[in-house]
This record gives sequence, C-alpha cells and structure tokens, in this order.
Amino acid sequence: MNVPDKLQKKIEERQHNNLLRSLGDTTNLIDFSSNDYLGLSKSKELFVNTHHFLAENLIFENGATGSRLLSGNHSLYTEVEEELCQIHHAEAALLFNSGYTANLGFFSSVPLRGDIILYDELIHASIRDGIQLSNAKSYKFKHNNVENLAEKLAALQQGLQAENQEIYVVTESVFSMDGDMPNLLELVDLCEKYKAYLIVDEAHALGVLGNKGLGLVQDLQLENKVFARIITFGKALGCHGAVVLGSKTLIQFLINFSRSFIYTTALPPHALATIKVAYDYMLSVKGKGLQKDLHENISYFLSETKRLEIKFIPSKTAIHCCIISGNKKTRDWAKKLQDFGFDVKPILSPTVPEGKERLRFCLHSFNSKKEITQVLEKLSTFV
Ligand SMILES: Cc1ncc(COP(=O)(O)O)c(C=O)c1O
Repeated sequence: MNVPDKLQKKIEERQHNNLLRSLGDTTNLIDFSSNDYLGLSKSKELFVNTHHFLAENLIFENGATGSRLLSGNHSLYTEVEEELCQIHHAEAALLFNSGYTANLGFFSSVPLRGDIILYDELIHASIRDGIQLSNAKSYKFKHNNVENLAEKLAALQQGLQAENQEIYVVTESVFSMDGDMPNLLELVDLCEKYKAYLIVDEAHALGVLGNKGLGLVQDLQLENKVFARIITFGKALGCHGAVVLGSKTLIQFLINFSRSFIYTTALPPHALATIKVAYDYMLSVKGKGLQKDLHENISYFLSETKRLEIKFIPSKTAIHCCIISGNKKTRDWAKKLQDFGFDVKPILSPTVPEGKERLRFCLHSFNSKKEITQVLEKLSTFV
C-alpha cells in the first residue's frame, strides 16, 4: 500500500539534503564507533557465566510474560535491584527496559504541571522526548555553563508563583555527542542553593568514570546530593536495560505514574541475569583491567592528537570529537576513514548544531595503540 504523500515528501527532503538515514550492515572495520567501551558485549566469558547462572538457578524462561505490575515481576528483578542499590549506594532502584524508556518515563511523570525543568542544551534526545511529554515548563541552559544556569535559577526564584513549584535540573555526566563532563560539584552546590532537584544521566559514565567505573556521581561521593541517577546497561556494560536510582518514594512514584514503566512487557529474566553477571565482571579484577586498558587508550589518544596537532573537543572520557563543519565534508571524511578500515561515524546536523558537524571517535579497552595512531595519522592527512 502507498504511504501518504506527506511522508514520501519528508523522505525526499531528507534525501535532497543528504540526510537520509538508513540501516547499515555490520562491518568488520576497526571499532571506533560503538558504545561497547570495555568490549563486554562480545565477551564469551560473560555469556557463558550468564548461561551458568541461569541454569544453576533453574531459570529457563524466554520472556517476562507481562508488565512488572501484572505477571512479569520475576524474582530476579528484586535481586538485581537490591544489588544495584548496594553497588551504587542508592536507597532504591527501578529497572527499565532501556535508557530511552527510563528517561521518557522519568521526565514525563516526575515534573508535574507548574514545575520547571532546566536542561543542558546538549541533553540526550531521550530526555528531550520525556520533557516534551511532561506537563512542566522547560528551559535550556548553555552547555556545561554553571553561570548561565545560576542566572536562570535566580530569575526563576524571583518569579516562582506557587509555593510548591519545584525546579528540576538535568545534565549528563558524559555528553554523548561531545564527550565532555559537567562540573558536578558546582551544579550540586547551585541546586542546593536554589532547592532544585538534580538529575544526572550516567549512560556514558558507567564502566568509564570513577575508580570502579561506577559513574561520576559516585566518584565524587555525591550519591546523597543528587535526586536521581539514570544508568544504562547498553554501553560499557555491553548488555541492555537501564536503572533509575533514587529514594524509595521516588521509585514508588515511578512504579505508579511512569507510563513507559507500566505499559510494557518487562525485560526477560535472561536480560536481568546478563546485567547481574556483567556487573560482577566489571567489578572483578578482569573488569578493572579492562577499565585500565581503556584509560591507557584514552591517554594515548590524547597524546597522539597533540603530536599530530589535530584539534578535538577537550575530553577525558571514551568519546572524542573532531569538528569538521558541514554535513557533506563530515560524511566524506568518515567515508574515507571507513574505506581505510576504521569505523568512525559522522555526526551530522540536525543531531548537532549546524557548523558543528563532527567525526566522533569512541575509544575502547580493545583498541590497539597501533590502530589509534593509524586512524589519527590518516585523519591528519585530510585536515
Ligand atoms: C545520554 C544517553 N542517555 C540515554 C540513552 C538511551 O539509552 P538506551 O540506549 O539504553 O536506550 C543514551 C543512548 O544513546 C544516551 O547517550
């Protein structure tokens, strides 16, 4: 059946602007693009450990059978959530099917009509979508700009009408398109001063930041100063799903009002087992070794960009971006690197602002120094 003309036109428009998205094949290129920062998604050991765990515990289910509020609340849920509370020093935890649905469910339900959300202008699409579904008003503040946030908070405080009008501030501990980090200590102070609730998305921080890889909040010992943390498992943990960490009351609220939690089939038990086993692995000596390898590669990458005088957005994380400017040029350069065997992705506008189109390099524990040197030397010949 034909699709409506309007849809066809939108596709053609994308094509015309050289922005048409399509699903690529998996490649055998050298990985500088995946979020699999520690290589856990392909760890045979982790896969086998998960299999043993399931078999030993006589868990042979393929699916969850329903929403957690109906038939899907497998006993593993409580076990994993309790473990996550201990590991992450949180009062309570609630697993979601993905980081996307966690952010959607959190931001669409927690800030109520009359409340205000202040979000970093580079915040992830999943948070933006959640905010769009919320009845609260929202305003952005300049990226990682504490002064700008302070101005907005001060202005809001003057104009607050109702006594119970709440302010939520949201940031990421590692920004997915830039790889940079906020000054969380200053943000916490500011939120305390203005009695605002701070929410931190740690998607790209798990496995990367902190001496155990448990994220920026924990690294700075701010667990009790942050209203909620959203941690996802599809990146460095190499599996799937997400958790919201916060107070018992917050979690009770989400169970009752977060629609992306309520109206969906729960994650299957084997996904929960993978999360559990992946945490054990990440916190083991081997996991720590992988984190060390990743950080050595990050340091090496930085020293090579310096040696080759290639300008990147300053970053100490696994994400490093080189601004190219222009969708066509960025896409062409990515294609050239891919033709040389390196999987480097172009990040184009409108995903990033016009003029800030970039090549994004994701670093991993398993990248070799030789690969890093080769890809950067190749890039330096285009610059
Ligand atoms: C900052 C951030 N938050 C949330 C998500 C969504 O997580 P998931 O892939 O588990 O849906 C992503 C993934 O792209 C992300 O980069």
